[in-house]
Amino acid sequence: MQVSTKQVLLSVENLKKYFPLKIPWTQALLKRERPTVKAIDDISFNIKKGETLGLVGESGSGKTTTGRVIIRLIEPTSGRILFDKKDISKLSKENLRRARKDFQMIFQDPMASLNPYMRIGKTVSHPLEIHKIGTPAERKEKVLSLFEKVNLIPAKEFFNRFPRQLSGGQRQRVVIARAVVTNPKFIVADEATAMLDVSVRSQILKLMIDIKEDLGLTYLFITHDLASAKYICDRIAVMYLGKIVEIAKTSDLFKEPLHPYTRILMGAVPIPDPKLKRSKIIPKGEIPSPINVPSGCRFHTRCPYATKICSEEEPELVEHQGRLVACHLFDKK
Ligand SMILES: Nc1ncnc2c1ncn2[C@@H]1O[C@H](COP(=O)(O)OP(=O)(O)OP(=O)(O)O)[C@@H](O)[C@H]1O
Ligand SMILES: [Mg+2]
Repeated sequence: MQVSTKQVLLSVENLKKYFPLKIPWTQALLKRERPTVKAIDDISFNIKKGETLGLVGESGSGKTTTGRVIIRLIEPTSGRILFDKKDISKLSKENLRRARKDFQMIFQDPMASLNPYMRIGKTVSHPLEIHKIGTPAERKEKVLSLFEKVNLIPAKEFFNRFPRQLSGGQRQRVVIARAVVTNPKFIVADEATAMLDVSVRSQILKLMIDIKEDLGLTYLFITHDLASAKYICDRIAVMYLGKIVEIAKTSDLFKEPLHPYTRILMGAVPIPDPKLKRSKIIPKGEIPSPINVPSGCRFHTRCPYATKICSEEEPELVEHQGRLVACHLFDKK
């Protein structure tokens, strides 16, 4: 897989997304600060051209919100999103509409993201109509060739089918075809294979890799499934309660996860240091609420290695042996 070391396609800087909580106005009067859900709380990362960056973490850690914010399906609270060196976090509606053809999202449930009353040929050519690309005949030609590429064969027959006439795997192939029909540069795939059977899942992952190589795409691949992440991602970012706690090359992360949270996610062995407690390796309790984020390192309430500093100071994402990790165990200070 060829990944340029220089060319960054997407760069996210200090991104935050806070959702204000709806509370009765009587309570709002009494509160000095309006409570918010800190779904993303100051994250920075970049994705190089041609790369697949994985985003993993427990339910509620902010993965989907990150995917949606960086392609401006929802507005960021603050921070910058540089796409091909242009800040898209502040694009006007009209400029955003034009830029949209460069980035697409694939969702978890293909049935829910397809119009059940529209023939799939029409569904896939729809983005071309919106962006006024090609004549009707050219659009049909493009869709038929894409159907061949995603293995919906015979393409002419599939063109006139409805989503209910397809299997789950075939529906996800339609969704992938629709996502790439405008020749985008970047795709956010949010749990794109989560609802598929294991055997179909690997076929779709393989298709996503082939399509990426063929069309020169770049992916943000959001998943719960570490096996899929290992298979498709060049690098992986691990998210916990709105923060990125570790970013590493996939092979490094699986060989030696550094952050205690990553280790626990992977069911990995304890940190090989006899001075550190080895006892509790299961994360204690449930993920805390993103409304009341723990002080210091937000993982300290569940971390088997937590010490005093962990509840007092928030660790920064710093370099450790060529990787990035946010944990006081690795903080040279
Ligand atoms: N529109 C919204 N309004 C209020 N809170 C929201 C909204 N969208 C997401 N959240 C909250 O933000 C946090 C992060 O949610 P998000 O869906 O990004 O997590 P996730 O990592 O994708 O989880 P999952 O793995 O379950 O898909 C959650 O606490 C969620 O309840
Ligand atoms: Mg999600």
